Amino acid sequence: MQSKLIQIFDLKDFPIQIDIRRDVYIKKIPEGKASDVYRVQAFDRNGISHLLAIKFIYDSWKLREIKVYKEYLSNSPFKVPELIYSNEDKGLLVLEWLDDFQLRPLLSQIHLETLREWIIKKHLFFKGKFKNIDFNYESHLPWMFRDPFGRLENFHAKELFGVITQIAKFKKNIEKLLLSLDYPVTLDHSDLEIQNLLYRDSKKLAVVDWTNAIKGYGLFDIAQFRKLYIQNFDKDIAKATTIKLLESVNLENKFEMVLIFSIVKEIMLLDYYLNVRKLPVKNEIVKDSIALLKSDLNNINIRLNRHFVWVRTTF
Ligand SMILES: Nc1ncnc2c1ncn2[C@@H]1O[C@H](COP(=O)(O)OP(=O)(O)OP(=O)(O)O)[C@@H](O)[C@H]1O
Ligand SMILES: [Mg+2]
Repeated sequence: MQSKLIQIFDLKDFPIQIDIRRDVYIKKIPEGKASDVYRVQAFDRNGISHLLAIKFIYDSWKLREIKVYKEYLSNSPFKVPELIYSNEDKGLLVLEWLDDFQLRPLLSQIHLETLREWIIKKHLFFKGKFKNIDFNYESHLPWMFRDPFGRLENFHAKELFGVITQIAKFKKNIEKLLLSLDYPVTLDHSDLEIQNLLYRDSKKLAVVDWTNAIKGYGLFDIAQFRKLYIQNFDKDIAKATTIKLLESVNLENKFEMVLIFSIVKEIMLLDYYLNVRKLPVKNEIVKDSIALLKSDLNNINIRLNRHFVWVRTTF
């Protein structure tokens, strides 16, 4: 690792001249999955200490995170780590390390309130900045819904059976619905999992891991917010707070749409758990995910049965 670092610090355009002969403290961050993240404390030629988050990116599509930092996050009104250096050829992203931020907090109501405010700020800041979605949902549909669901359909696990048959019934309608949306476009972080939320204290939040950020309707993040609320509190409070959030970003009466995005997101997540991480169906997070899918489907189902056919205007 030390030699890999020397190569980085020796790059001609690396902005800090690190004195590699002095102590360089390296710690591998276990959360990193498809990338390796190291916390590095290094001293420059003037003896000043720099804490860096050095991320080695191995999947080429994940290099898009560099673009997101450069193009979208440079003037953001909320705290993100400062981009210190990036090199796409070397799959390298170097960020300011947010050392005081405690990792993996248990989310209290104040943490979630802070996240709600963060999502509103992010949503409104990016709203209208993009003319349209650079990938349209049509080209994104396979990645987002069709393929992940197709892979789950091949899974013959009894735990999954009920949800698979239910979703199969709605599949066409969900796809049609996603293609017909015309809400203002904003930026979805798309991965507001607890390990990517760094809290300095309950009221100060910085968000890392922008690999999956996409131009969208903000509904992925709102769906994720609802899930975190359900996991830490209960469904009714989660619904009431989500509705409040929707009102703040001018998406009143769109709670059912959040349920649709929750279903889509959960399908992507399940596909990732089962087919990429190869977790067993009985694993706790997999079971949680299936339970959430089931209950969301039931909510949508009631509506569907009442109307007999999917009525677009109800959304
Ligand atoms: N700038 C930073 N300051 C503090 N901690 C960080 C920083 N960047 C990353 N981390 C820590 O390292 C972990 C992994 O980083 P990150 O989420 O960017 O990579 P990853 O989950 O492997 O992402 P990917 O999905 O792109 O492979 C984070 O969950 C966080 O704990
Ligand atoms: Mg992460």
